Amino acid sequence: MSTIPRDQWYVAAYTAEIGRELFSRTICGDPILFWRTEAGEVTAHADRCVHRRFPLSQAPSRLVGDTVVCGYHGFTYDAGGRCVAVPGQTRVPRTARLAQYPVVEQDSLVWVWIGDPELADPGRIPRASYLDAPGWTTVRGMEPLAARYSLLVDNLLDLSHETYLHGGYIGTPEVAQTPISTEVDDDAGIVYVSRHMADAECPPFYERSTGLSGRISRWQDIEYTPPCLYKLHSRIAPVGSVPNPDGSDPDAFHVEVVYAITPETEHSTHDFWLVARDFALDDEGVSAFLAEQNRTVVLQDVEALDVLEQVIATEPAGYQELSVNIDTGGLAARRMLTRMAGGAVPAVPAR
Ligand code: FES
Ligand SMILES: [Fe+2]
Repeated sequence: MSTIPRDQWYVAAYTAEIGRELFSRTICGDPILFWRTEAGEVTAHADRCVHRRFPLSQAPSRLVGDTVVCGYHGFTYDAGGRCVAVPGQTRVPRTARLAQYPVVEQDSLVWVWIGDPELADPGRIPRASYLDAPGWTTVRGMEPLAARYSLLVDNLLDLSHETYLHGGYIGTPEVAQTPISTEVDDDAGIVYVSRHMADAECPPFYERSTGLSGRISRWQDIEYTPPCLYKLHSRIAPVGSVPNPDGSDPDAFHVEVVYAITPETEHSTHDFWLVARDFALDDEGVSAFLAEQNRTVVLQDVEALDVLEQVIATEPAGYQELSVNIDTGGLAARRMLTRMAGGAVPAVPAR
């Protein structure tokens, strides 16, 4: 059985990736063709010609106005996926239509609905408005991961690995030493994991970007909305500083680290990453530094998770892993994902 939940919204691309070129990306096993109409609307259809399956993203297929012409025998489709011309006859078969995917552009992300289009509710797409709002500057990238998406979920829900896998970048001893608190909101479908370090070493990632150094107060508040959107609200401040009762927080630096975890196939994942900040907004040096650092950190995870995928692929069935306190958030996320994928939810393991 597939472990990938369907009838869900997934991030398929950044809005800037889709323009007047045919663009294809496989999401949850479905090859999807994206392009933007002359009016600027994003379209999403199956990337397979209904005639003989030629991928419509593949040259010499091409975009002509608001139609796509298949590069094999010329079947032509409009922006709604309807075939409007076939070679050698004037009658177009009624069933000649590309499967269409509901698509929404929001917060600089292109979301696509995988599953029954009748069930798609754009109101259920989780928000990250700071990715596209005044007062914030965002850097971003996407790395391909040759590992199942659940390994990336595990990785992001347990940041104690920063101390070991990302030492010298974002990891300091306090991350692994500080206990977490976990909350699960089953109704809203959100897992929260918090780690507040009152007096911690400032890692290079924040030292070079904020200008703070020495000891800092460092808060990590994770908000994961399975299956796709992971948000890490990171607060960096001088030791002893806390937000004001009215919520204002002038002494702190806020960094919103966002991941969109999108399965490509059962065993590969699109690892979208974004880092938004509310300081040094026009400082291109800070942008370049954060982009380069975060990409390096993501690649450290990618390398580790690619290895884990191979370990899992070659181990005998029934291997039992051992979970401890740091895994509470990851286990809660797994239970939600299993439920979403229609599987039997395992009992909460003893710790
Ligand atoms: S495969 Fe597309 S027209 Fe024949
Ligand atoms: Fe990591």
